[in-house]
Amino acid sequence: MTHLDAYNRPISYLRISVTDRCNLRCVYCMPPEGVPWRPHEEILRYEEIEIVVRAAAELGISKIRLTGGEPLVRLGFVDLVRMLARIPGIDDLAMTTNGILLSRYATALAEAGLRRVNVSLDTLRPERFHRITRLGRMEDVLAGMEAARRAGLEPIKINTVVIRGMNDDEVVDFARKTMKAAWNVRFIEMMPVGNGVLADGGWRERVVTGKEIRQRIEAALGRLEPAKVSAGNGPARYYRLPEAKGTIGFITPISEHFCYRCNRLRLTADGQLRPCLLSDQEIDLRTPLRQGADVAQIKTLLLKGIEVKPMQHHLDEWKRPENRVMSEIGG
Ligand code: 5AD
Ligand code: SF4
Repeated sequence: MTHLDAYNRPISYLRISVTDRCNLRCVYCMPPEGVPWRPHEEILRYEEIEIVVRAAAELGISKIRLTGGEPLVRLGFVDLVRMLARIPGIDDLAMTTNGILLSRYATALAEAGLRRVNVSLDTLRPERFHRITRLGRMEDVLAGMEAARRAGLEPIKINTVVIRGMNDDEVVDFARKTMKAAWNVRFIEMMPVGNGVLADGGWRERVVTGKEIRQRIEAALGRLEPAKVSAGNGPARYYRLPEAKGTIGFITPISEHFCYRCNRLRLTADGQLRPCLLSDQEIDLRTPLRQGADVAQIKTLLLKGIEVKPMQHHLDEWKRPENRVMSEIGG
């Protein structure tokens, strides 16, 4: 049975950051030198994550997403997927990845029980990709997406954070991609949660709203019709260009928040239960886990997290998360 929080929202989804480490340094997320990694002993072990997921499943949480940092840089990640895929009650197991290592692991991940992947891709231009991620090669991501498609990790969703002056001139190019290929592109409004250059100054001026993106696409390519994507029930609103194979989604945390239909809890890489991405409130699961807490005890703590989940975020009052960077919480 799914539990309702204090605002009657059914909580059915847990996002787990499996590592704070990443093989990229996206400008909105990290400074060029990276952020100091947490020492290994602070990061939850796979057996500990398994206990949390068992507890979650018993509370009616049926969807799990593994994120980072970059999940594929953690050793033995495929083993974790296999452990979690076996847990009764988990009917959707997905991963968010930057795609760099995806071609290497796609087949093994699918065999281990992963259902599907979301891949981050902010630009379609190789040199620009290198500028935004500082370290990556776009071809690796495209190869990763192709490998994921062949392995059946579908539907693949593409996450595109739109930043004025950096990649907003490509929104029509992305939209055009959905005409011929079954791409599900989701444009995301940039949030002030990273630790990169953009989080410091001029953040608000660089947000491009979903509405503006939609207008630009419709002016160039025609009217968007409402569409459905077969898996997931996140915050995106989906549309389709006439006759298009793929879809176009909008995730609008800034211009049109979706807190009233938020269905999720988060677990940070170091084992803190975070009821809201944008609130610093956390419940420590790692200490009890290391003291031998069992599934029943963790269930009690998860219920507490559901109980205290805040009604909405307060970005409009310039309140941002202060105790964490995005790569620890999981995007
Ligand atoms: N605002 C919006 N999205 C972000 N992501 C990372 N940082 C931010 C931010 N400040 C996205 C990544 C990835 C997902 C996990 O979160 O691009 O697609
Ligand atoms: Fe890594 Fe994702 Fe942050 Fe980019 S946004 S540096 S891929 S964690």
